[in-house]
Parts: sequence; structure tokens; C-alpha cells
Amino acid sequence: MTVISVKNVTKIFGKNPNQVLDLVKKGMGKEQLLKETGHTLGLHNISLDIKKGEIFVIMGLSGSGKSTLIRHFNRLIDPTDGQILVDGKNVLSLSIKELEAFRRKKMSMVFQRFGLMPHRTVLQNVAYGLEIQGIPKLERHKIAEEWIEAVGLQGYGHQYPSQLSGGMQQRVGLARALATNADILLMDEAFSALDPLIRSQMQDQLVELQEKLQKTIIFITHDLDEALRIGDKIAILKDGVLSQIGTPAEILTNPADDYVSAFVRDVNRARVLTVDTVMKPPHYRITTDNMERALAEMHRKGHDYGYVIEDDEYRGVVTREDLAQEVAKPGKSPSLFDYADDSSTIVTGHTLEEALPVTLDCDHPVPVVNDEGQLEGVLHPEEVGSALSPEPTNQDDDNDTLPSRAVALEKKAS
Ligand SMILES: Nc1ncnc2c1ncn2[C@@H]1O[C@H](COP(=O)(O)OP(=O)(O)OP(=O)(O)O)[C@@H](O)[C@H]1O
Ligand SMILES: [Mg+2]
Repeated sequence: MTVISVKNVTKIFGKNPNQVLDLVKKGMGKEQLLKETGHTLGLHNISLDIKKGEIFVIMGLSGSGKSTLIRHFNRLIDPTDGQILVDGKNVLSLSIKELEAFRRKKMSMVFQRFGLMPHRTVLQNVAYGLEIQGIPKLERHKIAEEWIEAVGLQGYGHQYPSQLSGGMQQRVGLARALATNADILLMDEAFSALDPLIRSQMQDQLVELQEKLQKTIIFITHDLDEALRIGDKIAILKDGVLSQIGTPAEILTNPADDYVSAFVRDVNRARVLTVDTVMKPPHYRITTDNMERALAEMHRKGHDYGYVIEDDEYRGVVTREDLAQEVAKPGKSPSLFDYADDSSTIVTGHTLEEALPVTLDCDHPVPVVNDEGQLEGVLHPEEVGSALSPEPTNQDDDNDTLPSRAVALEKKAS
């Protein structure tokens, strides 16, 4: 379900945005617009949809328009052109009263520069959103205390923001946003002032929270590793223009342009890509429990190995050679379901880094099995290799032929 829909939004800052809108519509870029008209292009014709329960990350260099974009969502900024729909409702059509309620209940924001009230204690800051929702003091303080603890600031409730470090203030801002229990969280560089350890703890906490509460989270960051770690979707902005929207795997394996490629070049792909994105359908499934029959079929079809499936459940892999030896032994052959070797499998959702040792250790493509024990696909070592190489490769393109490789290399060299 789409929660936020941005439709052809353009934002121009300056004296007469509407007068220069036509120039922008005709394609004038940010630099030229500033030079010729003195107007700053904040966003240019942005369209995107954000789904319920998603962590939607917005990335881009400083000045690319990230803050400008999310400030449109709760109408801190009005677009020069285009529309923003939240739950299907055009935010521009909200009355002042509706807008107030909307900001109070529907969305809460963690600002880039904390936005704490200096004359209020940490506890009062965190409880603020609840106070304006009219929640009684005792109750709102109880809720605020819980969130203060959740962000690791227990004991600081009665201090003032100025007594805290930048990272601690940022956590107060986060606790305040979470305490309001809004469906949508707008987080503008919410973790950037945190040191690495607490930052990665907060990232985990956010993902956990989102899974539990199914909030929709719009998260701005400069840090690609952070984006890849927490994002379900990532949008990359450059000079107010959307370069690409995609899942972390899509961004990594199919960067849309040189700007995105430059972003993803140094990423540790093995830690980000999961086996699901690289696996291929198994070439051959065996569904009989009868060894002789399986062996005959392998002979007939010319397969050297196959994946044994019993009632939709993966039982293991067998090679033709082993089967032939087993069948040649005197007496009745054992059950193929029991005989199949299930020692090397990878569970879906694991990263290539986790899968790599198994892949290297296995002399057939490694089966990828889901939590229900069903075979979802297999992992070929050469596919893993090419997914880990920084060259853009097209996942859906099976003929990753030499010419396309050569072009990719040529591009890199030039
Ligand atoms: N109130 C404003 N008045 C004039 N120009 C503005 C205003 N707000 C933003 N801009 C311009 O819009 C562009 C986008 O700014 P924005 O703050 O959205 O960038 P950002 O991607 O959030 O950058 P950062 O990572 O540094 O926070 C910049 O060129 C900026 O100068
Ligand atoms: Mg910003």
C-alpha cells in the first residue's frame, strides 16, 4: 500500500520561482539556473512512491535536495510544482487545523540539527509530542522514560540538552519522534552525529522497531553503508534530480549512471548482497525416492547430479556416480530421500560473505533453502564471483557475454 506518493514535484528557491519554472521544465540544470536567474533548483520533477512498512532511504551528496524532499512530506515546504499525496490525500489541500493534527499524529520528524528545546529537560523534550496530543502528564512521562531508556539515555531525563553531547542530543530527538507513535517517521541524518558503535546499534534497533511496529520510515543519510544496511528501497538524488530508485541489490548490481556507480564502487558487496539476489533455479530436481529410477532418469537426461525433493521439501543432493555405486551393491537400495546428502545448504537471506565458504567447499552449486525447508534456488560459484565484482552486471541478463564485459571494462578505462 502506498503511503506517500510524490508526483512530479519541482521546488525552486528564490524570488520568483514560478517565473523560472518554465526554464526548469525545459531542462535547465541547477548550475545554469543559478547563474542566469539567481534561483536555486532544489528538486526537479521528482516522482516516487513510498509503501507502508518500508524503510525508504534518500541518499545524495550535500545540497542534492534530500532535506528539501522530505520537508515536502509534512509541508514544511510547499512545492513550486507537482503534488504530494499522503494516504491518498493531497497535503496541499489540508486546512491549517488538519495540518496540525497531521503533524501531531501522522508523521514525526527527527531533524538534521536535533531541534530540541533548550529550556526543557530531556524528559520534557521527549514527552513534548505527547503533551501536544493531550496525553496526561504521568502517562506521557512514563512513555518518555521508556524511549529514553530505549535509546540508551537512562538517567539523563532531568538534564538539559546543552549538558549532552551531540550524539546524545540526536538520540533525544529520536526518542521524541518515536514516543509520538506516529505511523510515519521522517529521519533527516538522524544517526550522523553518533559514533560508530552506538550508530550501528541504533540502526539495528530501527530495523527491529520497524519490523515490530510496521512504521513507514523515510531516512536520509550520506552514508551508503548505512543506506544499504537498513533500506528496503534507496533513492539517490543528484543536484535535485532523481538518479535512481531501487533495492540495495538493484543499486549495487545495476547502478543507473556514473554518479551511482561512484557511490557504490567501494562497497563491500559480499556483506550487502544476499544469496537470494544471486541464486539461479536448480537445473534438475529429483522427486522419486527410488534410486534405480532416479539413476535411470539421470542417465537418460544426461545429468551428473540432482537435487532431491520430497513433497516440496529439500532432502539433499546426489551425484550420478554415487548413485551408480549404491545401486550396484547387492540387496535392496536404500531410500533416496534418506541417502541424499544435505550437509551443504544455505538459508535464504544470508549474505554472500556468509555463503562464500560453503560455496567454495562444494563441488556442485550450493542449494539455497528457505525457512520452510523448500529449495528456492542454487548458488553457482561463478555467479557469486561476478556479483562480487564491481562491474555493473545485469541480473536478468543471462548472456553476460564477452562483448558486454569488454564494453564495461572499456568504460572503466576511459
Ligand atoms: N530555504 C532555502 N532557501 C534557498 N535555498 C535553499 C533553501 N533550502 C535549501 N536550499 C537549496 O536547495 C538545495 C538542496 O538543499 P538541501 O538542504 O535539500 O540539501 P541536502 O541534500 O539536504 O544537503 P545536506 O546533505 O548538506 O543536508 C541546495 O542547493 C540549497 O542551497
Ligand atoms: Mg539536509
